[in-house]
Amino acid sequence: PQLREERLETARREALMGGGEARLEKQHSMGKLTSRERLAVLLDEGSFLEAGTFVQHRCNDFGMEKKRIYGDGVVTGSGTINGRQVFVFSQDFTVFGGSLSETHAQKICKILDKAIEVGAPVIGLNDSGGARIQEGVLSLAGYADVFQRNVLASGVVPQISVIMGPCAGGAVYSPALTDFVFMVKGSSNMFVTGPDVVKQVTQEEVTQEELGGPKVHTRKSGVAHGAFDNELDALARIRELVDYLPLSNREHSPRRPTNDSPDRHSASLDHLIPADSNTPYDVLEVLEKIVDGMEIFEIMPDYARNIIVGFARMDGETVGLVANQPLVNAGCLDIDASVKAARFVRFCDCFNIPLVTFVDVPGFLPGVSQEHGGIIRHGAKLLYAYAEATVPKVTVITRKAYGGAYDVMSSKHLRGDCNLAWPSAEIAVMGAKGAAEILYRGKNNIDQAIKEYEEKFNNPYVAASLGYIDDIIRPQDTRARICAELKVLRGKVQENPKKKHSNCPL
Ligand code: COA
Repeated sequence: PQLREERLETARREALMGGGEARLEKQHSMGKLTSRERLAVLLDEGSFLEAGTFVQHRCNDFGMEKKRIYGDGVVTGSGTINGRQVFVFSQDFTVFGGSLSETHAQKICKILDKAIEVGAPVIGLNDSGGARIQEGVLSLAGYADVFQRNVLASGVVPQISVIMGPCAGGAVYSPALTDFVFMVKGSSNMFVTGPDVVKQVTQEEVTQEELGGPKVHTRKSGVAHGAFDNELDALARIRELVDYLPLSNREHSPRRPTNDSPDRHSASLDHLIPADSNTPYDVLEVLEKIVDGMEIFEIMPDYARNIIVGFARMDGETVGLVANQPLVNAGCLDIDASVKAARFVRFCDCFNIPLVTFVDVPGFLPGVSQEHGGIIRHGAKLLYAYAEATVPKVTVITRKAYGGAYDVMSSKHLRGDCNLAWPSAEIAVMGAKGAAEILYRGKNNIDQAIKEYEEKFNNPYVAASLGYIDDIIRPQDTRARICAELKVLRGKVQENPKKKHSNCPL
């Protein structure tokens, strides 16, 4: 028995050492934590239960038969975050560069399968040199097995990817299939083909950072939903994010009681909308003033800044916020904003998170590049997402709600449950000047026509008289009213017609 105990101890010690001391040190010298250290920060202390500690690869080519390392480059298992169950995998760059082998993939698949069965989120910490080169197609098969499970898990349990090192080639597509992708500044990158191949094929010279660093993916490509300054910050913020989410589509988000009274009034909101309706204001200020404790977890804060999406709580309940941002492009909807918001709305709908939408939108952004870029099909995504969503939907029109964009932004006509307007709301086909210029082209008295149009439509009363607006409220009462409406809507049940799956324009 003593021998057996010794063997276990030796084996476990070996497993904990991953690729060995020198490689662990190298990892630290690059400013990175090891796979196990990351899990220790991410999960509640002592909660990690490892699965697959002693898994080894089965490759006997290229000298691999002499190099078998416990764990095979990924640490997998379960744990808790603020006491709530999650499943995790954390790639170990010190073991064959965290590259994905047949057995490495099997470990990840096992976690995904369990997560679906149990109904708990999956958090993947990615740090990998890609497909295990020595294993060839076995490794590619492994990727596909993971992809298949990512897709099956989609909409069943939240899936979060954190990129904490290289992520290239086939490796990028597992994160891309998950709900949220976060990166760490200075140490992570993502690309399908690296700078060397790019140079060979297109003669473009580009660094790894320029090609697929956090700046590119959070501002330009929209591949990543956020980037954090360092690993500790990233892991702490993931804990925060998980706290907003339900464990699965079978549950609701946890309620987090707050000292912030649901009846709190914000008198300053009454003076927030500028007298001139073309003067911008910061809608983030509105959002902060109406949510619990002014706390918002923004998703994609640096991408398509003309729309804000993110999680917050109202009276302790998680909500998904969507708001046009008048500070950027007057809050117009364009291709990027539509896609950003559509994906967020669909996430919230998958996971029973009520949607609270703030509207100040002068319309879709005009322009050749928008039309040729397919604003029709991309704008349709947001329209589709709101129309399909069956979660509680509360909408507040603060100022402009013009044209088709009025319909899109969670209007009454798309099964909005509660549609409110501030007295400053303008609900019209277009701005008064544009309208009058079309209606009275070539005629005198255009100023009179503008005035008439303004009087008729630059207010919420016509829409309210038709029942498209449920109530016109003082801005200061917004928080109290939304909290009360969400309480009413807690029991909402709405079903879409049965179908295999919907066919959202892509
Ligand atoms: N398969 C097998 N082993 C791999 C690997 C892979 N895809 N990627 C890295 N490794 C191994 C390296 O051989 C090295 O092993 P060693 O410690 O025994 O010497 C170890 O992982 C670390 O790699 P190294 O190249 O020294 O690290 P780096 O930080 O200098 O570079 C990468 C990191 C990812 C840029 C580089 O390893 C790389 O280009 N890897 C291949 C990427 C690729 O083309 N993958 C296939 C496409 S999906």
